[in-house]
Order: sequence, then structure tokens, then C-alpha cells
Amino acid sequence: MLTAVQDPRSLWTQWNRLDTDHPHTDPAAMPASPVLEQFRLTDRTALITGGGGILGAAFARTLAQAGANVWVADLLVERAQAVADALTAEGLSARAVEANVLERPSLEAARTTIGPVDILISAAGGNAPGATTSAALSFFELPLDAMQQVVALNLFGGAILPAQVFGRDMAENPRGGVILNVSSMNALRPLTRIPGYSAAKAAVSNFTQWLAVHMAQEYNPRIRVNALAPGFFLTDQNRYLLTDEATGELTERGKTIIDHTPMERFGDPADLAGTTLWFCSEAAAFVTGVVVPVDGGFSAFSGV
Ligand SMILES: NC(=O)c1ccc[n+]([C@@H]2O[C@H](COP(=O)([O-])OP(=O)(O)OC[C@H]3O[C@@H](n4cnc5c(N)ncnc54)[C@H](O)[C@@H]3O)[C@@H](O)[C@H]2O)c1
Repeated sequence: MLTAVQDPRSLWTQWNRLDTDHPHTDPAAMPASPVLEQFRLTDRTALITGGGGILGAAFARTLAQAGANVWVADLLVERAQAVADALTAEGLSARAVEANVLERPSLEAARTTIGPVDILISAAGGNAPGATTSAALSFFELPLDAMQQVVALNLFGGAILPAQVFGRDMAENPRGGVILNVSSMNALRPLTRIPGYSAAKAAVSNFTQWLAVHMAQEYNPRIRVNALAPGFFLTDQNRYLLTDEATGELTERGKTIIDHTPMERFGDPADLAGTTLWFCSEAAAFVTGVVVPVDGGFSAFSGV
């Protein structure tokens, strides 16, 4: 088995890459570093909704590697279990729980199983082909129910309901808590073809700011609410848009994205680790109400 230092996904490995003048070969041998200590999540309990998905699993791995006791929640509990099993096999602390983020009773049942959490990452979400315009499906024909499902999944299930169910404990916890939502490039400027998803993610960014202010002012100034805005990561929800199913080649849309990404590649889920850990740890103790793009420069590039 790879040690944390050898494993390319390990946070220690990422830090060592940055510190090439003073490479550390063994985390245990490192001198105590107050700034690195801020990133530790020992004694923290974290829940990741949609944790069986590609980005959700990466979030779970990041928090578990930093020492958190992680709960991986998913509508498809077998996916959550597979992620928890993989992390447990690496000696990390992870358990699985079933939760449908669209059903408050399902979230309440998960809360009963888990107890209070210090960190909530709301990673359940995604687009659906039925809510996507195409040559065969014009904007004028887009079915309302498909768009409603996408908005419900990304806004209500993707951010609001989990914050209602798990945020209450944070309000009562003197050390507060962290809520991290997952927005998107769509929130900054809408992408073509996916109007419901774009509108929902714009609303997630807006809600993130609203909740940051509300939690701090009304309940507990030590609750922080932020969001990641990932750029383009090849996952199950967008593979049909970005690659040709038969050949695996990039579609025109996939090529356009790479052309507009100064770093000239899709993101790897491990690219989210550092920003995620920063948000979820004491290192970001004075950061709330922000949405940070992790996008290889996509949102900065005007196209010219
Ligand atoms: N992949 C990207 O490029 C990208 C970019 C920006 C934002 N995002 C966002 O990141 C988040 C994670 O996306 P991903 O790429 O890992 O997708 P994914 O499809 O791999 O994972 C989503 C997970 O959510 C679960 N899920 C779906 N409905 C659910 C429900 N009602 N209750 C509980 N779980 C449910 C699915 O079972 C799945 O395991 C989503 O909010 C997505 O919109 C992804």
C-alpha cells in the first residue's frame, strides 16, 4: 500500500511539491508548524452529500486525509459505501449513509444516524439530458418537469435543505461549523444549452452569500459558508456533452472548453483538494460568503 507521502493524491505530497527547497520525506518528522496545524481536521466530523460521485469522493478523501471523521452520503448508498470502503482500506476514517437531499425526512434520518457535524459539503447535484437543449430538443420544447428537477436537485437539495438540517447543530455549537457548497462556472456566466442548471448554480452562489451573512448575524459568527466553483471536470454528468460516446474523442463543446482554459486541460478531482481543505479548516477562519473558482483560468479568460 502507498504511504501518504508516496500517494500522488496525498495532501502531504501536494505540500511537498510546493516546498521543493525543503522537501519533507516524513510528515511525522516535520517540525511542528503553526500554519500547517491550521489545516488539520482532527476531531472534526464531516458529511459530504453526493459523496458517492466523482467530486464528492475527492472531497471525502481530502477531509479524511486531513484527519476528519467522514460520513459519505448518497442517494445511491452502494456508491457511498464503495467510497467509504476505499478510504477505510487506506486507514482513514469514513462511513457511509443513505440520504436523498431532496427529501427532508431522509436528511433528518441521516442526521439521527450521524449526529451533529462540524463540516457539511453539499456535493449532490448535476444536470440532466432532458433539461439540455439540442438539435432534437429546442428551448421552446424543454419540459418544465426536467428543468424543475434540475433546479430542485442543485438548489434545494444541493444547498438549502442540507444546510437547514445540519446547520442547526452548528448554530448551537460554540465552535461553529463550516458549510461548503458547490457552485459552477455557470454561476458567473451561463453556459450554452443548460438553462436550468445555469440558473440553479447562480442561485447556489447567491444563497451561499445569503446564508453566510444570516448564520453569522443571527446564530453564530463562527459558522462559515462558502462555495467552490469548479471549472470543467470530466464526470458522469457531463461526459455525454464533452466526449463522443462511440470514439471517446472530444466533442466540439469539449474542444471549445479546452481552447478557453488557459491551463489547456480538464480539471482532475484532486485539483480541488487544497481549496477544499483551506475552506474547511481554521486556515480560512475569517473567510465567509465567497465563491472561489478552481478552473485552470477559464473564468479569467475573455477569449481574446
Ligand atoms: N464535474 C464537473 O465538471 C462539475 C463542475 C462544476 C460543478 N460541479 C458540481 O459538483 C457536484 C458534484 O458533481 P460530480 O461531478 O461529482 O457529479 P457525479 O454525478 O459524479 O456525482 C453526483 C452524486 O450525487 C448523487 N445524487 C444525485 N441525486 C441525489 C440526491 N437526490 N440525493 C443524494 N445524492 C444524490 C449521485 O448519486 C452521485 O453520486 C455537483 O453539484 C455538480 O453540479 C461539477
